[in-house]
Amino acid sequence: MSILKSLNNDIRDMIKRAGYEIDVGLLPSNRKDLGDFQINCAMSLAKIYHKSPLVIAEDIVKVLEEDKRFVNINIANPGFINLSLSKEFLIDILNKENEDIYNNIDKKDKKKIIIDYGGANVSKALHVGHLRSANLGEAMKRLARAVGYDVLGDAHLGDYGRPLGLVLLEIKKRFPNLEFFDSNYKGDYSEVELPITNSLLEEIYPYASLKAKEDEDYLEEARDITFKIQNRERGYYDLWKKVVAISKEDIKKVYDELNVSFDLWLGESDAMEYFPKLKEIFEEKGLLKLSDGALVVDVSKDGDTSPMPPLLFIKSNQALSYATTDLATILQRKLEYNPNEIWYFTDLRQNLHFEQVFRASRLANLVDKDVKLEFIGFGTMNGRDGKPFKTRDGGIMTLKNLIELINNETKKRLNPDIEENSREEISKTVAIAALKYADFLPFRTTDYIFEEEKFSDLEGKTGPYLLYSTIRMKSLLNKADISYEKITSIETTEEKELALNILNLPTVIDKSLESKSLNEIAEYIYNLTSIYNKFYSENKIITEKDISIKESRLVLTKIIYELNCFILDILGIKVPKKM
Ligand code: ARG
Repeated sequence: MSILKSLNNDIRDMIKRAGYEIDVGLLPSNRKDLGDFQINCAMSLAKIYHKSPLVIAEDIVKVLEEDKRFVNINIANPGFINLSLSKEFLIDILNKENEDIYNNIDKKDKKKIIIDYGGANVSKALHVGHLRSANLGEAMKRLARAVGYDVLGDAHLGDYGRPLGLVLLEIKKRFPNLEFFDSNYKGDYSEVELPITNSLLEEIYPYASLKAKEDEDYLEEARDITFKIQNRERGYYDLWKKVVAISKEDIKKVYDELNVSFDLWLGESDAMEYFPKLKEIFEEKGLLKLSDGALVVDVSKDGDTSPMPPLLFIKSNQALSYATTDLATILQRKLEYNPNEIWYFTDLRQNLHFEQVFRASRLANLVDKDVKLEFIGFGTMNGRDGKPFKTRDGGIMTLKNLIELINNETKKRLNPDIEENSREEISKTVAIAALKYADFLPFRTTDYIFEEEKFSDLEGKTGPYLLYSTIRMKSLLNKADISYEKITSIETTEEKELALNILNLPTVIDKSLESKSLNEIAEYIYNLTSIYNKFYSENKIITEKDISIKESRLVLTKIIYELNCFILDILGIKVPKKM
């Protein structure tokens, strides 16, 4: 149990001993001159117990005063209790944290959560739109695990539907003699070499997609091939599998660079096995309606204040929609993993899509009522013009290019002493830190502007600043010439502030879990690091003569170092050995 939680439990007991029962805890004070914390229950208790809040506050203070952990207890009108924590208790907090960070984290009741935060599309390059999904989803996965949830991350590859039909059609046009298009071919397709690289695939898709917009026959042919894939027709289906494999390998590499990993690499196509069952459920419940040749589900509700168009279940050309693949995926997840919650991280603009999907799945009871389906939308990363970030010529900014842009900046700021052969790797690690940290700083629904110089600055609220400081803490610890176990004294305001911040960590974690945004944690680690850095620049550590002060300061350094590593790991940010 966290230090704060057990402290709050004790406070509730103390209030009970004073004769009152209420669920309260310490709140950070907004009048630091009166104390570090407030307890604000006297006013509510006054209504329940029909006494003046001042009398109640006095009763409570009498009990609090017996506890050595509290100092400077005072009452402000009409009954606010202000207090601070004793030096001994602050030392205690630091020593507890030094034993094990996990002691200061509140474990939650077990539940199983599937997080859908990939959404990369086969044969299309990962682009800026996939960045926040990957960053946020990965970090929320790590955070949810840290509090004890059972979490599965799913890449949910877009490997189904017309884009693949288009890609295969264009391959057919360019390589008409491939065995995959020869219906007389009797050999084993898995052994056929495909003369295609991932970069060719990435070139083919935009080409084919544009062509289909201008050429009706081409589009028709692509539809036809899409059907062939979906019906697992020999040749086409085998080629599709090869294309998926090539693309997946490349997608994995980019996710690896981002330090993002998935437990499940399922795709939209994997859910299609569940489509017949899905259709049966919707039919049985009478939810499918014919509309202009398409089958739709009415998902509107009385009281809807904005338009809620019907969900397209089967299109008039018999193709399945994006919404149907998501419904089939919900059924698949229910039957194969039976989660308590499913979290979807995508761009806010997919809000309506998910609202339709969730409503339809409730109508059909695809999951139990208490299973939470949560859409977690995010804002866009924009260019300096305030519009979604594009390449200089207006094209889609791929993630690879984006990483390159920032890598060019972080490379410039690398310590010149770093050997040539590790420069590239280190600078990449710092670049990813810069990118991720900048992504977490604004609340998740807020758009932000991509500014590579600002993100890679070694000063200010940046990933590189945090890495640089963390590495410096480590190198200071490496220089220690005494063993250090315990904090025995704290002298400075900074030490006190650090202890108070540590006390506050579980609250920050809870807020992030609640809001599914990392901004609070991003601010928290910045604060912690800057307070420590101030302490570092104003105090002797290695050169301190008083051994017990020196030991305390080294332990403090170790605590903040480990806490930084822990938080950076949750954010999915790696710490290089030097930079
Ligand atoms: N592939 C989709 C896209 O690029 C994102 C998928 C998000 N997840 C989902 N279950 N719909 O827009």
